[in-house]
Amino acid sequence: MGGGGHLVATAGGLRAVPEDTIWRLEPHTSVKHDIYDGYLDAWFPIILRTFRSGTYAEGFAGPGVYRDGEAGSPIRALRRLRAMRDRWPELRDRPVRFVLVEKRRDRVEQLLTEFRRELAHPMPGGEYRDAALHILVRQGTCEDTLPGLLAHVDAKKAPVLGVLDSFGGGSTQQLIRRFARQKGGEVVITVEPQHFVRNLDPARADEVFGGPEWRDVDELPPHVKRTYIARKLTEAIRAAGFRFVISFGLETARGNELLLQFATNHPTGLDRFKDSLWGADPIGGARFRDPNDPEQMLLDLTPEPAVAPLRRLLLDHLCGRPARTATVAELRTFTREHTLYRHKDTAPALDDLLARSEVSHRRWPHPRPRPHARPDAHYRQEYRTVHPGLIDRDEEKAPMSIYPLMLPGWEDLSTWGAEDDYLYAQVTRNGLSDDDGPEFWITPHLQPTCRTVNELSQAISEVTLVDRPTVLQAMTLGVQPAARRSLGLPDTGSV
Ligand SMILES: C[S@@+](CC[C@H](N)C(=O)[O-])C[C@H]1O[C@@H](n2cnc3c(N)ncnc32)[C@H](O)[C@@H]1O
Repeated sequence: MGGGGHLVATAGGLRAVPEDTIWRLEPHTSVKHDIYDGYLDAWFPIILRTFRSGTYAEGFAGPGVYRDGEAGSPIRALRRLRAMRDRWPELRDRPVRFVLVEKRRDRVEQLLTEFRRELAHPMPGGEYRDAALHILVRQGTCEDTLPGLLAHVDAKKAPVLGVLDSFGGGSTQQLIRRFARQKGGEVVITVEPQHFVRNLDPARADEVFGGPEWRDVDELPPHVKRTYIARKLTEAIRAAGFRFVISFGLETARGNELLLQFATNHPTGLDRFKDSLWGADPIGGARFRDPNDPEQMLLDLTPEPAVAPLRRLLLDHLCGRPARTATVAELRTFTREHTLYRHKDTAPALDDLLARSEVSHRRWPHPRPRPHARPDAHYRQEYRTVHPGLIDRDEEKAPMSIYPLMLPGWEDLSTWGAEDDYLYAQVTRNGLSDDDGPEFWITPHLQPTCRTVNELSQAISEVTLVDRPTVLQAMTLGVQPAARRSLGLPDTGSV
């Protein structure tokens, strides 16, 4: 790092925070930029197609350039926007706003110099504006300045992507809440957990975590402190109002670790961000780790990731489930929402687990397969862990039953049936897909157990808002008359 500077803690010890206006680009910063670029390449077209305008905001914008001339994140973002507009001319006139805040005067000046060069425009008053682009650069602290600026540029109606890229101290929960409240708001935050392990500024840290509970880190043994901090940061972001949060630690050859966190309320944002993570260029041999992985394995950045850690995470998850069992849709949701893997990585991991006999698998035909659906959608599938040393009794179990639910408005995909000693239903209204699981799943894993057709019809009635006698009739119509009595159904009506 160029020039002198005060010290901050890192995993590898202490490092200097640069005092000079610009500094040398570090390898993990390059990887971070590559991830940002990949995400912006997805974000701009999706947002501009869907919402017709969008706002890119940085709270810790920096000087816009590094010592050897590499572009900083705000300039890179502008280049991604231009590349997108070259590729999709029909999106060229959709307005985009850049709102950029930087604390230091000299870095604001440098950032403006970079923008002037890039845009061939003098940017009087730190501002550029044409019909499709509005850039606003301001000096100030992001905590005090950014919320007002976002209101000023009227970013309320369009999604905002916030990049909060501090030198390690993270961002206050209050600022993150500002993005969570925004329609389509998302945020990327960088933080160095060691910063909090070393307890450099406890009063500000309380604002980052939203309270003093994180201070328990002092009492913990050294090897769990970093994971604890990562978990507390994730909790703080969720408490700010984000449904999905992923975190990963970027490792560099020099042993530093930068925790990158991404928060969104939309599953597509989560998928696209993970694509950009796995697709990033592993410059300088950088690797990353999942702070939630108990084994803390280092992972290589590669579009086709090794699924060994996912195998372990899926097994752990299955072990914690009732009857150690989950459907393939549930496992895909777990992968998507609780790991760094994409939901599409679930299938190869499950195939490996099957090949190693660590899980057993049952599938049974869907009662009404749809001719154009993916081949695996012709089946309901379920996986179960095989405890070491125990014989898996799956094959000995009575086969479960499955019947169509002939409920008007819900009959295309919905089913119900009997399994072991309970009844279940998978209910999806017509016109929706159940490729990622049914719209409503009535099963003992999720609700009170239904043991009679009356209890099940009541539960279906509650989610569909259709009266119970109609539901009972819809259940009955899907069952051959000869089988109705054993299920406790009235034996009237025809299939
Ligand atoms: C890690 S650098 C940003 C790098 C930039 N995002 C990039 O990737 O090119 C952090 C910047 O935040 C600035 N900064 C520190 N505290 C700040 C605060 N509270 N509000 C706004 N800027 C701040 C620093 O002066 C520094 O330029």
